[in-house]
Amino acid sequence: MTITLTTGKEIPIEMHKARIVQKTSLVPIDRRLKVLEEGGYNTFSLRTRDIFIDMLTDSGTNAMSDNQLAAMMVSDDAYAGCESFYKLEAAVNDVLRFKYVLPVHQGRAAEHLLAKVFVKPGCVIPMNYHFTTTKAHFVLAGGAVEEIFTDEALNTQSTCQFKGNLDLQKFEHLIKHNGTHPIPFVRMEATTNLLGGQPFSLENLAEVKKVAAANKIPLLLDGSLICENAYFIKQREKKYENSSIQEIIWEMTKLADLFYLSGRKCSSVRGGFIATNTKEYYELLKPWLPVYEGFLTYGGMSTKEIEAMAVGLREMTDINVAGSAAEFVKYFADRLVEQGIPIVTPPGGLACHLDAKRFLPHVAQCQYPAGALAAALYLASGVRSMERGTISTDRDQNGKEVMSDLELTRLAVPRRVYTISHIEYVVDRLKWLYQHRDAVKGLKFVEEPPVLRFFFGKLEPLDDWGKKLVATFRKEIGVN
Ligand code: F0G
Repeated sequence: MTITLTTGKEIPIEMHKARIVQKTSLVPIDRRLKVLEEGGYNTFSLRTRDIFIDMLTDSGTNAMSDNQLAAMMVSDDAYAGCESFYKLEAAVNDVLRFKYVLPVHQGRAAEHLLAKVFVKPGCVIPMNYHFTTTKAHFVLAGGAVEEIFTDEALNTQSTCQFKGNLDLQKFEHLIKHNGTHPIPFVRMEATTNLLGGQPFSLENLAEVKKVAAANKIPLLLDGSLICENAYFIKQREKKYENSSIQEIIWEMTKLADLFYLSGRKCSSVRGGFIATNTKEYYELLKPWLPVYEGFLTYGGMSTKEIEAMAVGLREMTDINVAGSAAEFVKYFADRLVEQGIPIVTPPGGLACHLDAKRFLPHVAQCQYPAGALAAALYLASGVRSMERGTISTDRDQNGKEVMSDLELTRLAVPRRVYTISHIEYVVDRLKWLYQHRDAVKGLKFVEEPPVLRFFFGKLEPLDDWGKKLVATFRKEIGVN
């Protein structure tokens, strides 16, 4: 909930209280430099003990509710026919209105199964935008990803409320001029993660469905952030301002032939699933579930997580849960805009995104400005963020570097984990970093994995800028 103080200032207010907490520490800047150097200037290499505020991701790191934790205690570990699964199935039936559910260990496992069954060599998969693991699985299966976003989607200084919309004209053009390449489905990602958590409108989703159905193309909905997208529809799409989050979710899932999600996000657990109302799709997927994941009633998930997921799905329809991250992101983004710090606007669903091209205009894209900014922010604050730019984009089949559309440094806001004072601290250190942005130079790979290179890649700062930045910080701010 957002509350207006008597001063007129608006703040997001927590509609929950913390009764279990995790201790953190802010290690001195020399230690931060040491661990960053050892980890190849890649924030994925850092350990929790060296991180003050972890904004790497909201995946699996959201605070769980008391009711989720309580549900874990009564889980049933039967290999086949476990009762926990039937609670999840009931929650999926009620909240998403899908009859068939296939649990998997996390979102990319759902992508793997979907790719295995539906994506054949030569296929083209249109989508509003790709996610790293989605693209990897579809490409590994021999398919090609076609991103058909609107022209506004890549404008990081926009007022467009639905930058996650799919461009219908481009979609129709693609279908017409696709030749013999089959289209197994069109994929819509509820809040496009790599565009900065930007939502699509229900109007757009309905139009996409219309075009897809007319061409007998199934619609696949990635609902990993479905409650955030529903929250934005309520906020930004006039027709739905009086609808509940649950009603909006039903409107969205009604249009989907196939659905999957990473339960690590919306439902605040560690797991995922595929769901559908089409028996034929279910029967095609089902035989592969025990091969790659586990038996039908656990699918690679711990039964404790299945219990918590059933509760989490119901809880995400509460507007104070659905809006908890989005409201913090907005507060965060507003403070950064006040300081003139370049970010993606309007603020999106899961994170505040720094626009590294504008933050570090002197760093060429082939020297990875978003990765350099993530490393510099860690040095200046102990805050861990994630590169979402060219490092997160693998080379093409010929080994050629592919420049990403956007160079973003993502500061994820896990749901119900951090407070306003944490946000204020990050804003303050970013302000300092922005004042010293000229000191931050680019990076170069010293070890580069062949796929999803952002996870394990090791890099080096050009001109050893990290040490110099640390020296300035020590002089101006001190050891912390
Ligand atoms: N789809 C979307 C939109 C995602 O954001 C993610 C994961 C996945 C699929 C894959 O799910 O991680 O459970 O295998 N996003 C995480 C992130 C990793 O940090 O944004 P997963």
